[in-house]
Amino acid sequence: MKVLITGAHGQLGRELLHTRPAEVEPVAEDADRLDITDREAVRAFVEGERPELIVNAAAWTAVDRAEEEAEAARAVNEAGAAHLAEAAEGIGARLIQISTDFVFDGVQGTPYRPEDPCRPLGVYGATKRAGEERVLEISGGRALVVRTAWVYAAGGANFVATMLRLMAERDSIRVVDDQLGTPTWARTLAEAIWKWSERPEVAGIRHWTDAGVASWYDFACAIQEEGLAAGLLERPVRIDPIPGSAWPTPAKRPACGVLDKHRSWEELGVSPLHWREALRRALAGWA
Ligand SMILES: NC(=O)c1ccc[n+]([C@@H]2O[C@H](COP(=O)([O-])OP(=O)(O)OC[C@H]3O[C@@H](n4cnc5c(N)ncnc54)[C@H](OP(=O)(O)O)[C@@H]3O)[C@@H](O)[C@H]2O)c1
Repeated sequence: MKVLITGAHGQLGRELLHTRPAEVEPVAEDADRLDITDREAVRAFVEGERPELIVNAAAWTAVDRAEEEAEAARAVNEAGAAHLAEAAEGIGARLIQISTDFVFDGVQGTPYRPEDPCRPLGVYGATKRAGEERVLEISGGRALVVRTAWVYAAGGANFVATMLRLMAERDSIRVVDDQLGTPTWARTLAEAIWKWSERPEVAGIRHWTDAGVASWYDFACAIQEEGLAAGLLERPVRIDPIPGSAWPTPAKRPACGVLDKHRSWEELGVSPLHWREALRRALAGWA
């Protein structure tokens, strides 16, 4: 099966390539060779390659910068997704679009199901939600939208990499303890996407993260423990919990963006991996 992977140099893109099943013939491109904001280029590329499946792992993921550069974020997250959906429709290919827990405001207090109402708090979430809507509309509901959260992988710009760097440089760090979510290794997400690639009848919105719940503070403590155990850190540093109000950011973040994954787990027949175990495995191979 020929599969076009966009955003192939990103965290998820690289893990999709790494975990691809033997029968997949990947066409892996990033913005340097396939800029998804260019509608005509996307149409021509897709018509030339004629993949059976397109996995859109390309996105504007700079959440805070999106507040200042809304049009640039929208061009990738909404228009870019729509261009891929149009091109996929043009050749009868399936599209798997990746989205985010930031489509929710985080005040519900229980894990979000795919059908729960969306209320993004900032530009990034709003542009990702608009991308979901365009993709589902253009595909007549046949596309699959997979929402995920707190993604990390070796080699990416992510919370794990930032914590490991700060823990090596400083004697103490402060980390927000009143925002909850689920850390997700890009590899487990990639493996789930390949399982969905074998289920062309699955359409609409699904949720995928690793299992469990954490605050950023919990996550930081676990990164330190696992980082020490894996030999990535030499000595422990003090980690102080602080409220989000003490760490203001341009974009507001959901207080509790935990996603309900039960439908995905049942549909794919997988046993969920707890985020802590996923972190341990990821750090064992951290470069
Ligand atoms: N990271 C997270 O915590 C997180 C959480 C929830 C959902 N998600 C979603 O998960 C998906 C994968 O995220 P990720 O963490 O793998 O992101 P990432 O590491 O930032 O990768 C995104 C990739 O998209 C590329 N890209 C940006 N603009 C593009 C364009 N116009 N045309 C083609 N490619 C373009 C980027 O290239 P450049 O680096 O050259 O810009 C980058 O290689 C995204 O849909 C994201 O919204 C991520």
